[in-house]
Amino acid sequence: MEVKTSLLDNMIGVGDMVLLEPLNEDSFIMNLRNRFDHNEIYTYIGSVVISMNPYRSLPIYTPQKVEEYRNRNFYELSPHIYALADEAYRSLRDQDKDQCILITGESGAGKTEASKLVMSYVAAVCGKGQEVNKVKEQLLQSNPVLEAFGNAKTMRNDNSSRFGKYMDIEFDFKGDPLGGVISNYLLEKSRVCKQPRGERNFHIFYQLLSGASDDTLMKLKLDRDFSKYNYLSLDSANVNGLDDAASFRTVRNAMQIVGFMEAEVQSVLELVAAVLKLGNIEFKPESRVNGFDESRVKDKNDLKEMCELLGIEQSVLERAFSYRTVEAKMEKMSTTLNVAQAYYARDALAKNLYSRLFSWLVTRINESIKAQAKTRHKVMGVLDIYGFEIFEDNSFEQFIINYCNEKLQQIFIELTLREEQEEYIREDIEWTNIEYFNNAVICDLIENNQNGILAMLDEECLRPGTVTDDTFLDKLNTICAEHQHFESRLNKNSKFLTDHSLPHSCFRIQHYAGKVLYRVEGFVDKNNDLLYRDLSQAMYKATHSLMRQLFPEGNPAKVNLKRPPTAGFQFKASVGVLMKNLQTKNPNYIRCIKPNDKKVAHIFTDSLVCHQVRYLGLVENVRVRRAGYAFRQPYESCLERYKMLCKKTWPQWRGPARDGVEVLLTDCSVPTEEFAYGRSKIFIRNPRTLFTLEERRRACLEDLATLIQKIYRGWKSRTHFLLLKKSQVVVAAWYRRYAQQNKYQKIKSATLVMQSFIRGWKARNILRQLKYEKRCKEAVTTIAAYWHGTQVRREYRKFFRANAGKKIYDFTIQRIMQKYFLGLKTTTMSPMDNTWPAKPYGFLEGAHTQLRRIFHLWRCKKYRGQFTEEKKAVYEEKLEASEIFKDKKALYPSSVSQPFKGDYLEIQKNPKYQKLNSAMEEKVLLADLVNKINRANGKGSPRLFLLTKSNFVLADQKTGQVKASVPLPDLASVSVSTQSDGFFALKLKEGSASASKGDFLLSSEHLIEIITKLHRIGTTAADRDQINIDISDEFLVQFKQDKVCVKFIQGGPKNGNSAACKRKNNRLLEVSVPSP
Ligand SMILES: Nc1ncnc2c1ncn2[C@@H]1O[C@H](COP(=O)(O)OP(=O)(O)OP(=O)(O)O)[C@@H](O)[C@H]1O
Ligand SMILES: [Mg+2]
Repeated sequence: MEVKTSLLDNMIGVGDMVLLEPLNEDSFIMNLRNRFDHNEIYTYIGSVVISMNPYRSLPIYTPQKVEEYRNRNFYELSPHIYALADEAYRSLRDQDKDQCILITGESGAGKTEASKLVMSYVAAVCGKGQEVNKVKEQLLQSNPVLEAFGNAKTMRNDNSSRFGKYMDIEFDFKGDPLGGVISNYLLEKSRVCKQPRGERNFHIFYQLLSGASDDTLMKLKLDRDFSKYNYLSLDSANVNGLDDAASFRTVRNAMQIVGFMEAEVQSVLELVAAVLKLGNIEFKPESRVNGFDESRVKDKNDLKEMCELLGIEQSVLERAFSYRTVEAKMEKMSTTLNVAQAYYARDALAKNLYSRLFSWLVTRINESIKAQAKTRHKVMGVLDIYGFEIFEDNSFEQFIINYCNEKLQQIFIELTLREEQEEYIREDIEWTNIEYFNNAVICDLIENNQNGILAMLDEECLRPGTVTDDTFLDKLNTICAEHQHFESRLNKNSKFLTDHSLPHSCFRIQHYAGKVLYRVEGFVDKNNDLLYRDLSQAMYKATHSLMRQLFPEGNPAKVNLKRPPTAGFQFKASVGVLMKNLQTKNPNYIRCIKPNDKKVAHIFTDSLVCHQVRYLGLVENVRVRRAGYAFRQPYESCLERYKMLCKKTWPQWRGPARDGVEVLLTDCSVPTEEFAYGRSKIFIRNPRTLFTLEERRRACLEDLATLIQKIYRGWKSRTHFLLLKKSQVVVAAWYRRYAQQNKYQKIKSATLVMQSFIRGWKARNILRQLKYEKRCKEAVTTIAAYWHGTQVRREYRKFFRANAGKKIYDFTIQRIMQKYFLGLKTTTMSPMDNTWPAKPYGFLEGAHTQLRRIFHLWRCKKYRGQFTEEKKAVYEEKLEASEIFKDKKALYPSSVSQPFKGDYLEIQKNPKYQKLNSAMEEKVLLADLVNKINRANGKGSPRLFLLTKSNFVLADQKTGQVKASVPLPDLASVSVSTQSDGFFALKLKEGSASASKGDFLLSSEHLIEIITKLHRIGTTAADRDQINIDISDEFLVQFKQDKVCVKFIQGGPKNGNSAACKRKNNRLLEVSVPSP
């Protein structure tokens, strides 16, 4: 069930000012303060929302809040801007009424924030879908773009809108947004060139310099340093809480979402850069012959860069800053500009360039967000316009702004009264006339076409002759003198002649919101808003894509001698259009109030609020609202709220709500003059009556609460008791069951124990019996076996004695032999294997030895059978070596394991010995490196030793040249020692041809092989004698004529362990051989 609530629930102060009692300025402000202190920043005056700026984020804009206020009646929940937005949106969607939301208040009061809150609420509650979401996003994202270019930090607001904005959001019949149109009003362009102390230029300049990439800045010929630009105020370049660089990214992103092309964004930034550059152009005077000074550009660098950015010819612009062409009646005249005029022209150009760029941006955004469909739209307009401004020094801008507010106030009064009146008529209630201040007279003072101040100003501006601000003031003094809201010192009206608060160069207007003193200085200039034609023509000539669109009047083909409309005229016209537009719509008001001047939370300055309440005419507003009946409410909700006050309507009234309310009010004895019955609403004249009803309702609610509490408690206790009772029965039943189960288990287990004992006892008895029977049976069997044995032995004894001995012997021998032969199987087939099992029994000794010999011979034969012919020859040689040297020479054992390779020099393969090899006629049987002992001193020199079947050859080791070739038949004998050396003497036959030089004493590592081979040649050749081999430690050799004794002695030579040879004398050559 939906819970019906009311604005009146949990009210802090009063949520609707029409209920304020007593109603005066003090109580009004007290109520605002009270609510503000409790974070209630919204308060109603009927359907108008007053919004106090909290200067801090409150948790009241969450999606949950949106849901809470969605589709709820305006007075159902506590006051909120969402309630107003919801009401407006629903009457737009459901009743097809165009809406406008008028947000007013002074600078920093929260208008822009309020407008954004309304837009975001509508975006949240309206339809969804891809296309709709895109439109919503574009509408919302237009805000950051416009804020960047149109907002600035001022003393009053860090994000102050310096332009007025009216945005029409268009919806289709379902209430889905289709698009929008934005109108902008009077950008404060003077800020481009000059900012008051402590204020900044428009945000975009700082955002661009802080946030753009180095690359972009280079392209725009800009420097990041703010101080380089005359147009940027430095004292507040960085504002607390503002991150310009991040904002720049947001703006670029927003531009992209809104639909700006990359090239367009670039062009816009180029223009922004151009404005900065323009500010840096400075002038110097140059004297002319006619005595006048003419201005010249001081440093042309900035001018050049600006011209490059915009694609303007530098000379054209330079000339436009020095000369001015005046055209009158087809005549052209060129006059020079002095330095002051040049600066004026420069600033005028900068202001115009920027404000036109801003207007272009609005047009461009409109192009993107305009509704595509041509069907009829429903429209919700949101007006965020500058509030009433009263400064110490008020100029043309304040005059214009205040004029606009004056118009808005007028429309406010008109529409509020109209609405009130319409409601009375609708509800069929008698209309009582309401007295109120109508500010139409002030509007007339300003805008009257004949003698209004704006018309006067235009007249002055267009008048030939010298026109100054003073002549304008004079004119006002004569024309408006009689007006009761116009005050001037020089007025004919003598009452201000002595008013010192009114300086001579000023005039004062009594606005509906208070008196404002305007200084006339600059009025004419600002109204004229002149840009020298030469400059606009120079701009038109630029090649930059945007410039032509921004300065269409510069087109020489369209030279228009008529003056452009003045600023005042334009503004008046656009305000006129706006007012007409607003009048066709259903208005919703948000009145923003600023609680303090310090931009901080929690501070409520009474005087400041009082001032705003006064000029916004809020108390007046309440008076108008409650002039007839202060409070009204539909019958249904009234009955719902107060039905408990009367027994007839409580708890349910069955008839029509109106009758119910009638019964109720009569029952409550409310005096009849205090209320009136409308068609659908009850109108209550006095808030006090409502509060009495509320008070009674509260008391009644307390009684009802007690009653409900009483019944509830009784019900609760009874339910509890019944529950306890039921539980007790359940618990008892469960317990009994549990106890019985336990008892049964105990009896059961006791029975089992007893049963098992008895069964055990019985079983043991039977076991004992069986065991005894078994023993008896075993005893009988044993006795029988023994008895049978004795019988059998007795019978067979005679047969056994005759045959058993031989049989046992043969069997035993057979077993032994079998075991013996099986044991021999372990021996291997290797001839080198000497192992042989030990003989097991003495009687096997002969057979055992024979078997070993036979087996060995057999396995040797097997082994030999595997030999090839070459291998056989090798073994034969080895055998011969053994026959010659075994046990005769100590060197022999070491040679046994070395295979006889023969060709140690690889004479066939080695290319070094190719020549030597070819010189050999027969197959070389042995080739080795030997040491030839010098016959003279016993020292050795290496020689190649080659052996063939018929001779041996000694050749030079290096050259391979044959030194000696001895036919083997000339070899008489070979002598070697018994020791482990490699010396051998080849003794030649006396008288043979080779013997002339004497015998050879050589040494070789392969002595055994060489000698064996020599010996073998001797044995195998049939034509030759066997070569003698003489083995002894002393032998004679023939060295030429001498016979020398070679003596081998034991005892290690000092160096190394090889044998050393030394010639001792003519007869003795001593070889020392190392001891073994
Ligand atoms: N409802 C709010 N909640 C929190 N802060 C707010 C709210 N309304 C306003 N503010 C704060 O106050 C500041 C000023 O508000 P805003 O810019 O809306 O003022 P304004 O009335 O538009 O002023 P101007 O006329 O100078 O444009 C905001 O920047 C924000 O910090
Ligand atoms: Mg604003």
